[in-house]
Amino acid sequence: MAKKLWGGRFKKKIDRDFEEFSKSVQYDYKLAEFDTYHSLIHAQALTYAGIITKKEADKISAALKMILRQVKAGKFKPDSSAEDIHTQIHNRVQNQIGHPAAKLHSLRSRNDQVVFGEKLYCMTFAKEILGGLSSLLKNVKSRAAGHKNCAFIGYTHTRRAQVILFGQYLQAYISMFQNDADRIDKFLHGLTAYIGAGALAGTSITKQAYAKAIGAMGSFIKEFNVKVAENALDNVSGRDFIVEFLSILSIVQMHLSRLSEDLILYSTKEFGFVDLPEEFCTGSSLMPHKKNPDFLELVRGYTGRIYGNLISVLTMMKGLPLSYNRDMQLDKEPLFSSVEIVSTELKIMAKFIGKLKLNKLVIEKALEDESLYATELAEYLVVKEKVAFGDAHDLVGKLIRYSEDKNSKIKSMSDEELSRFHKSLNKKVVNKAMNAKYAVESKKSISRKVPKIKNA
Ligand code: ARG
Repeated sequence: MAKKLWGGRFKKKIDRDFEEFSKSVQYDYKLAEFDTYHSLIHAQALTYAGIITKKEADKISAALKMILRQVKAGKFKPDSSAEDIHTQIHNRVQNQIGHPAAKLHSLRSRNDQVVFGEKLYCMTFAKEILGGLSSLLKNVKSRAAGHKNCAFIGYTHTRRAQVILFGQYLQAYISMFQNDADRIDKFLHGLTAYIGAGALAGTSITKQAYAKAIGAMGSFIKEFNVKVAENALDNVSGRDFIVEFLSILSIVQMHLSRLSEDLILYSTKEFGFVDLPEEFCTGSSLMPHKKNPDFLELVRGYTGRIYGNLISVLTMMKGLPLSYNRDMQLDKEPLFSSVEIVSTELKIMAKFIGKLKLNKLVIEKALEDESLYATELAEYLVVKEKVAFGDAHDLVGKLIRYSEDKNSKIKSMSDEELSRFHKSLNKKVVNKAMNAKYAVESKKSISRKVPKIKNA
């Protein structure tokens, strides 16, 4: 069993089952890189504070850098006998350099290390999520530009509503993902990783020693915003940044899930507007004809996990007395899980959208449905014939009902038949107002341009 960072006051050996139950190394090894940074800064601060010699600090730092190289090369494996990653790295240093390693943990606590590592993790992976959103946005934008003149059916209540452009439909998702990217960007800018909080009360190492140590770290720490702890208690006990990141990821997930649901629906035989790329579908072991939308279904399904991760951290935090409590160890799995799932989904969704095929013939057939232009006919009467909207709404409603009951197209009705609904209604008016081109072009309040993407 690996050596613990505590134990002096205990007479009895830890219960084996409890020991296993309490370990976090099986998942917090993902913080290994960031934990070595904490140790590198701390070792330096200890020399400036006169607690360890420069020689000891150099030895410790050399051992840490060796571990760092292993982590970066993907060769670092969690040691299942260690309690957590902080213990594992500490023990590794000890194995490499012997006794001076015992001085590394002077005047510091894992409470400070955990939150430091998690902040650096969030900084790193928020950037990755931002990259994923940018690639997705790029592909959605290029599809929107490619289909900017293709008429499409817009829905409300999952019922045919009005004609839009397919480009416009995609613009809605461009807005959603752009807003997500903006949220991540803002989150990233607000993140600071603090060092020097000790267990909760600060340490006897001065602010100046810590600041000098941070300054001495060189390039690798520059990409992270590291500062000396300001409010030690808040630093070790606050997990707002994790809740915030998980909230943003939940919103990204909501958007991915809505897009998935749209595409599942539009690719059914009943709709048939799009063909899903085969590379992202699977078949049935029994029914030879099946091409199932599994990627989209898994995205929709994972929404439960992503929302659950947020709720689990919010709930875990809600009743914790200040400051650090072991409950907080349980913030890591939800964080890692949401980051890994959303980041993979974004990567696949970008490829998926790039390969999505539009069935223009099916869409054109659906566009023949005259009820799609009922609103345009009413608006035409209002704008051109100065009919009051309430009257226009009522008479067009009656006309649609009449056409359904009679099972005859409005466009095939005679002038006389049409004028029974309103004196200014005739074949010319009907033909002018009830078509896709007019429907789209009569909308002056919106921009049909594909919006610029900031981060792409
Ligand atoms: N594995 C623990 C965590 O992730 C490390 C902190 C332990 N601190 C303590 N005082 N027991 O929260």
